[in-house]
Amino acid sequence: MSSRYGKKLHKLKAKGRLRELLPMKQCGAGIVNYKGHTLLNLSSNDYLGLGQDTELRQRFYQGLDYNESGESGFAAASSRLLTGDFPLSHYLEDELASAYESESVLLFNSGYHANIGILPALFAKGDLILSDKLNHASIHDGLQLSRADHKRFRHGDYAQLHDLLTKYRKQYDQVVIVSESVFSMDGDEAELDRLIELKHEFDVRLYLDEAHGVGVYGKKGLGKAEEKGVLQEIDFLVGTFGKALASIGAFVCCSKEIHDYLVNHSRSFIFTTGLPPVTINWNRFVFQHMLTMNRERHHLQQISTQLRHALTEKGIATGGSTNIVPVLIGEDGLALKQAKQMQELGYLVLPVRPPTVPEGTARFRFSICANMQWKDLQKLPFHIAAMAAGADSEK
Ligand SMILES: Cc1ncc(COP(=O)(O)O)c(C=O)c1O
Repeated sequence: MSSRYGKKLHKLKAKGRLRELLPMKQCGAGIVNYKGHTLLNLSSNDYLGLGQDTELRQRFYQGLDYNESGESGFAAASSRLLTGDFPLSHYLEDELASAYESESVLLFNSGYHANIGILPALFAKGDLILSDKLNHASIHDGLQLSRADHKRFRHGDYAQLHDLLTKYRKQYDQVVIVSESVFSMDGDEAELDRLIELKHEFDVRLYLDEAHGVGVYGKKGLGKAEEKGVLQEIDFLVGTFGKALASIGAFVCCSKEIHDYLVNHSRSFIFTTGLPPVTINWNRFVFQHMLTMNRERHHLQQISTQLRHALTEKGIATGGSTNIVPVLIGEDGLALKQAKQMQELGYLVLPVRPPTVPEGTARFRFSICANMQWKDLQKLPFHIAAMAAGADSEK
């Protein structure tokens, strides 16, 4: 008799939803070896290709200071509030604050830590959090941990958000709107202008998660708020190092008062070991390098747009406007089967299934990176159209 865990795993497998770990070897720019096959990696968030840039990595190691100060070490050895705070962390925070023209910046260990740590710390009983339904799981978990009331509005439905604000604003002390700038599963973007209008109309705060915007958008790569010229309008701007910045960690741009409040109240900041010096060094190095990568950002937009157009021309259901290009498939089992077919054709595509995306919307999520060329992508629409035709003829 299997345990209840075994039964649940069995059920997930039967539904085509079992998640499994997939060890794979990185073999150079955008290429991985998976189960003995060399594949183009269309599932990575290394949007600028910095994680695969061996020359850049060498330059970093050569420049590292291996002296006795311990500032290149691998151990923070305690929370930043004990002995795990280094001058390096403050240099990085100052550099981020200067680039974002923000009064203050606080580092977190990851985007997940940031979202589950900031929302519950800042919003309490008597407050209301209004969150886009397609916001990342870390934001949803932050809502669950907060004592504030929360409501989720339909994805990008700012008319519904306006109605909610009209109905509820007066009942709450503080209200905050939470949105991603680039939505990671649909590749579409928030209308920042509209959100800012609502912020002023109803006197609320704006929390923007730029996990998929940092590195990719704006002249300096600071994200969508920079691109739209609205950095100063965002009350809490969360950026991460785990995606285009090829590292780990996150930060929030905020006022000095909020910085100090988070240092005292944000549990995922207080009760965890700080980032190690070697990582902070790399984060400083890679952030400065990223600021200069306009040519790569331009190329990335160009090939992503080209792919989206080519898919549309073939009648394939896609959407969005960014370097994340979704292909809607629908049923979980079909997405699983077609992902395997794509792997046989030389592409690492992983099926994204519920609960990560809504029921009935299993999909591929092509994650286009700046170290790819159009010739790497141009056959994709033909392969997908052929698979779709094959699936139709089997019905
Ligand atoms: C929008 C968004 N926010 C936060 C996170 C979490 O960031 P991290 O991977 O640094 O924990 C992710 C990760 O996928 C994300 O997509």
